[in-house]
Amino acid sequence: MSRIPRFLEHLKTGFTAEATSAARYRAYADRSRRDGLPHLAERWLRLAAAKDALAVEMLEAAEQVRGTDADIGNAVSEERYENDVLYPKMIRDVDQETANVFLRVVNAQKEHLRQLEALRNDLNAAQGDVALPPEVDRGTAPSAPES
Ligand SMILES: [Fe+2]
Repeated sequence: MSRIPRFLEHLKTGFTAEATSAARYRAYADRSRRDGLPHLAERWLRLAAAKDALAVEMLEAAEQVRGTDADIGNAVSEERYENDVLYPKMIRDVDQETANVFLRVVNAQKEHLRQLEALRNDLNAAQGDVALPPEVDRGTAPSAPES
């Protein structure tokens, strides 16, 4: 990996730390819901959203959010690297049970790659914004009013 300036390195470290907390809190929320504690789950989710916002702030400060094609290209490269290099290397280095977890991740990510490629094609074909596929157009779309 090429040498990046110290401040960018630290912003990326901060991004990773807060993004990781957000994902961890969502896992805690899932667990709380399964434990029959929906309000505890809701409070974990609110904290997760706050952590996401901090992560976004640091990623933007690191100038890693560039918009449209650049972001899609970056997402595609990341997924490819993980699927072609990172996970295969780790799969060879762990027991079968753990390898199966990584294999499920790789399979899910192959579908994500297909979605990212579709997104790139849709964006290239669109005049401006892309259309929403029907499954995300039911009140969960960013344009929908907050409930
Ligand atoms: Fe990924």
